[in-house]
Amino acid sequence: MIRIDPWSSKQYDYEKLHQFGIEDFKNEWKDLPSPPFFFRRGIVFGHRDFHRIKDAIKKKKPWVILTGLMPSGKMHLGHKIVIDQVIYYQSIGADIHIAVADIEAYATRGYSLKQAEKIAIEEYISNYIALGLKPCHIYFQSKNNDVKDMAYLLAKKANLSQTTAIYGFTGSTNMAHVFAPFIQAGDILHVQLAAYGGLRPTLVPVGVDQDPHIRFCRDIASAHRLYSVMEHEGRTGVFVKVDEGVKKLLDIAEGIAKKHGYSYERNDAYKAIYIASNNVDEIDFELAMEERKLGYYGFILPSSTYHRFITGLDGNKMSSSRPNYAIFLSDTPEEAKKKIWHAKTGGRISIEEHRRLGGEPEKCIIYELFTYGLIKDDRQLEQIYQDCRNGKQTCGQCKKLASELMKEFLNDLKEKRNSAKDEIKEYLD
Ligand code: TRP
Repeated sequence: MIRIDPWSSKQYDYEKLHQFGIEDFKNEWKDLPSPPFFFRRGIVFGHRDFHRIKDAIKKKKPWVILTGLMPSGKMHLGHKIVIDQVIYYQSIGADIHIAVADIEAYATRGYSLKQAEKIAIEEYISNYIALGLKPCHIYFQSKNNDVKDMAYLLAKKANLSQTTAIYGFTGSTNMAHVFAPFIQAGDILHVQLAAYGGLRPTLVPVGVDQDPHIRFCRDIASAHRLYSVMEHEGRTGVFVKVDEGVKKLLDIAEGIAKKHGYSYERNDAYKAIYIASNNVDEIDFELAMEERKLGYYGFILPSSTYHRFITGLDGNKMSSSRPNYAIFLSDTPEEAKKKIWHAKTGGRISIEEHRRLGGEPEKCIIYELFTYGLIKDDRQLEQIYQDCRNGKQTCGQCKKLASELMKEFLNDLKEKRNSAKDEIKEYLD
């Protein structure tokens, strides 16, 4: 078993992630409006429960995005992919909420809240706006009391050994760090509170390193439910999880079945009711609403998607701690060009050999930069792939093209970032 560690930065064996219950995304995005490059090119590769989101989009019901940014270091191309997704989801009608993980940066990376705030605004939020994010809800963990209160109350349903097993905490881990996953669960689930838009399908787009947090949060969300609702031999099985008020809770579930005209079978001894409907999500949603009327949280499980990390220019992970191999959104075109020029490619040792054997775009970081959005047109991308494979296109040509496209992108972004400064207020809650 591989173990995903959200606080380390190695590359993953993406295939093995299925063991953790992450499902393949490739059949999920095809019906979405104008599928963007990160779907078409498999950059977003995995998900949990994306069906709730698709269903909301199809039925034009409200849904919400919650993701977070870690305000540490400078924003590089690897950080761009999540905001590309957020901007896309915003364009198709999602309500957008973004957590600035300043408490997490303080607890796990040694930043002060002041430093985290400065980095968040100057490095991240300005770039988000420059990249095209429209006004939405961006908040700081340290300033949102609903999130912090919720983190505390949610924590009732997780114990120390469970938390330690997931995150590998030891006796010397500081307690603010131990608490960071609860704050993140507060981030994810608070958008289902009435004051933030109420109960609705929630999507958390993240890098795959964040999956432990997602699983943890989903476990906590279901632990706070009174019912467990699942597909059961072609019907919807509704099971009461608590021991008090069972009859009343079954009455409520029975009421829902009747309202829809579904037939059902009730078994009080099993604390269960089996409803003849395959619309599990609908029944789950309505029961969650009923739980809220009784004064409980009544969460529906948040959905998630996972994207691949972009590779650093030397072939290892792109990280702000290795500035020569990362392209920062604040780099000058000259700096970027220099880095691109030293990047690892899929080219052969000599030009003769390259012409004869053809290059290996699969191993080429420049080709990866094209794939991650530098080239928008799929046909152009495919052409470069073919021309490299059969030795027609050389690494020099690709690097030149990449430098030019990067220059355009960086110059444009810089200009937009300057005018973004005055707009930031419209984004902060
Ligand atoms: N832990 C995330 C990171 O390291 C940041 C984060 C905080 C987050 N809260 C979140 C991500 C909620 C997604 C959803 O980058």
